[in-house]
Amino acid sequence: MTRLSGITPSGPAHAGNYLGAIRQWAREGGAGDLYFVSDLHAMTTPYHPQKLRARTRELLAVLIAAGIEPDTVFVQSDLMPQLGPLTWVLECACAFGEAARMTQFKEKSADRTHEGTPVRVGLFTYPVLMAADILLQGADEIPVGDDQAQHVELARVLARRFNSTYGEAFVVPRAVMPRAAARIRDLADPTRKMAKSSSDAAGTLLVLDDPDLLRRKIKRAVTDSLGRLEYRPVEQPGLANLLEILATCQGKSPREVAAGYSSYGEVKDAVAEAVVEEFRPLRERTHDLLSDPAELDRVRAQGGARAMERGAHRLTTVLRLSGVG
Ligand code: TYM
Repeated sequence: MTRLSGITPSGPAHAGNYLGAIRQWAREGGAGDLYFVSDLHAMTTPYHPQKLRARTRELLAVLIAAGIEPDTVFVQSDLMPQLGPLTWVLECACAFGEAARMTQFKEKSADRTHEGTPVRVGLFTYPVLMAADILLQGADEIPVGDDQAQHVELARVLARRFNSTYGEAFVVPRAVMPRAAARIRDLADPTRKMAKSSSDAAGTLLVLDDPDLLRRKIKRAVTDSLGRLEYRPVEQPGLANLLEILATCQGKSPREVAAGYSSYGEVKDAVAEAVVEEFRPLRERTHDLLSDPAELDRVRAQGGARAMERGAHRLTTVLRLSGVG
């Protein structure tokens, strides 16, 4: 069984990425799994090449620092020679309307229109590249938060369609949702999910933030004036979010956690200490890894070569079945 998942370096990693994804990849990952930095996906909206390169490195270091086996990590663009052709094949299996239905495309293209910057074709086709990431490796399980579930569904549809039209080439993958923290919300605006795009905002806890900054952001988290210490995500989204973060750090349920406190202030203090302790070793190990660039390059090259080796046979089969190459 192969699990595969990725993270896009469109900004620094935040608590949603870590608690909802990376931490679980590290805890549940097996020898055959693959986790990667999806740098190609960060090109779908305006970006700076040097920053992208630096963030890719930083995220690779975060994945390893989180405890993911170094030989199971890679950088997506190192697989360009295989992902390029496979993406084209899958684009030719994908209906325009299917890509146009993607919620994330609708949201992000609306943001671009709002800002007055052009919507890139790559933003439209990126779920197909994501399908290529998954299908190239024959992955069975895709651990993702609920914002990515629709993209994994598209990969399933494309795999089935290709298999039934041209011949069996792909494993049909399935999304697996984290048991906890599938959608951590922004601390300053708990109606929105915590996102890299708002990474300089007070509502985003970055895994590399220093402890004082983390504490300050948590103290200022928006709650409500009801004064009821219960886990009610719809009525009290801000408090529920804090309880979810604390519950995930402590390995309990948000309801269990809620029962242990009598004021919002106490909850915030507990969240601050839990998050600071959870992120401290991660931050320290990430900085250690970044201070040895040669070793990080070596790990990256090894992971890329391993993933390419795995993908080669499937790509050859797909091209043969497609009548090209
Ligand atoms: P990305 O970089 O947006 O997110 C990486 C992982 O973090 C999860 N996540 C969250 N979980 C809980 N609360 C949040 N607020 C939150 N925000 C993000 C995401 O669900 C994800 O699991 N396109 C993908 C990366 C990708 C990929 C793939 C994933 C590229 N190819 C193939 C799986 C399979 C992305 O941009 O994730």
